Amino acid sequence: MSLNEIAEEIKACKLCPLHKSRKNAVPGEGSSKAKLMLIGEAPGVEEDEQGRPFVGRAGKILNDALRFANLDRKDLFITSVVKCRPPYNRVPNIEERKACISYLKRQIDVINPKVICLLGNIALKTFFKKASISKVRGKAIEMYDRIYFCTYHPAAILYNLSLKSVIYEDMRRLKELVEKFMVNDY
Ligand code: URA
Ligand code: SF4
Repeated sequence: MSLNEIAEEIKACKLCPLHKSRKNAVPGEGSSKAKLMLIGEAPGVEEDEQGRPFVGRAGKILNDALRFANLDRKDLFITSVVKCRPPYNRVPNIEERKACISYLKRQIDVINPKVICLLGNIALKTFFKKASISKVRGKAIEMYDRIYFCTYHPAAILYNLSLKSVIYEDMRRLKELVEKFMVNDY
């Protein structure tokens, strides 16, 4: 199974009602050899238009934070927990998340990233049901030979500007983590 094959399945998927209102499913993009995977919540309006992840307002913030930390989008794989846009950008509900999760699991299996960065509460809760973002953000969580790292969703800055410096600082820590883990890898 390749990333392209998974993407084709996602684009044709009708497993949950979100397929009815989508313009384009957003499987994610990036290298199949990425050591770092970024996982958001769900596509927004611009992502739905283009079929590409993080190309709207949240994407601009994410790009700025990545640039600040010297992380290159080319070296990552970026996707979201849910692959189709929920109407009015509401939070994807538990049924939608359950219906969609096998795609994310398979993407992780194919890419086998060393580090997974969870962007925001929905991504965090998908992997760590009881974790609280304010407690675990900015820390490395090691599990099954993989490092998980969490920070706020970039869109959170749109509502709370004080989170900007937190996300920027977390991205810098993420970069350090990736480099540390890569050194051990070779
Ligand atoms: N927010 C997400 O979580 N994912 C996107 O692709 C865009 C915005
Ligand atoms: Fe399928 Fe996921 Fe889209 Fe629902 S959100 S239709 S499960 S790809």
